[in-house]
Amino acid sequence: MSVETRAKRLSVTRFRARKGKDKLVCLTAYTAPVARLLDNEVDLLLVGDSLAMVVYGFDSTLPVTLDMMIAHGAAVVRATQHALIAVDLPFGAYQESPEQAFRAASRVMAETGCGAVKLEGGEEMAETVAFLTRRGIPVMGHVGLTPQAVNVLGGYRSRGHGEAERAKIGRDGMAIAEAGAFALVLEGVAEDIGRELTERVAVPTIGIGASAACDGQILVTDDMLGVFSDFTPKFVKRYRTLAEDIRGGAREYADEVRRGAFPGAEHTYSANR
Ligand code: KIV
Repeated sequence: MSVETRAKRLSVTRFRARKGKDKLVCLTAYTAPVARLLDNEVDLLLVGDSLAMVVYGFDSTLPVTLDMMIAHGAAVVRATQHALIAVDLPFGAYQESPEQAFRAASRVMAETGCGAVKLEGGEEMAETVAFLTRRGIPVMGHVGLTPQAVNVLGGYRSRGHGEAERAKIGRDGMAIAEAGAFALVLEGVAEDIGRELTERVAVPTIGIGASAACDGQILVTDDMLGVFSDFTPKFVKRYRTLAEDIRGGAREYADEVRRGAFPGAEHTYSANR
């Protein structure tokens, strides 16, 4: 079924059922106008905690709060009708215990109207994923390079170098899928790891720097449109260069204001209107 003809919002169960079938298309969205533009083009929009860096200018995802995620999640849900919306649980809002995770996730679900939450982590989070899923909260997992663990990992380099790390990523993915996650984001791993995990887990794998072997792909929208241009990871393809358009538009506007060419008569109210 084409995305254009979809009558209503894609559900978690229909998303999960696409495992091994047609590729799942996912992007991030943080604001209503962008979400509205993307809604018909994708299967899932993630209100990612990457908004800490992309929108708020922090140098990691750690400072983002639950209230910030809820405000952005609610805006994205309000602006969309078709895509499944997942909202990231932010750092510190779920790692302590399954109960803490339930409190955070239930607030996200109730206050945004989203269809699912995403959380990072492997074996150590499996109990939490099972706890949430059994209580009615669909969970998307996220293993491999997990940006909330940047201070333990020592940076944003790709993961899975060496046998021990490869095996750990395999165990992490299996544990989260078997705990009941409906999908698994796999970030920053070599193609063979992406392929192997995709073959082993029963739920769709969504790759970001994890190869075309995954069941679907996700990118940070601002990266692939060239808005967020400070640094481009290897796995990002630039489909547009909007930073240049934005800078160019601002430059033209500034020039016209300075020359008195804007506003023109057509942008000016007359006395009888
Ligand atoms: O926060 C985010 O944007 C993400 C992905 C891009 C997977 O977690």
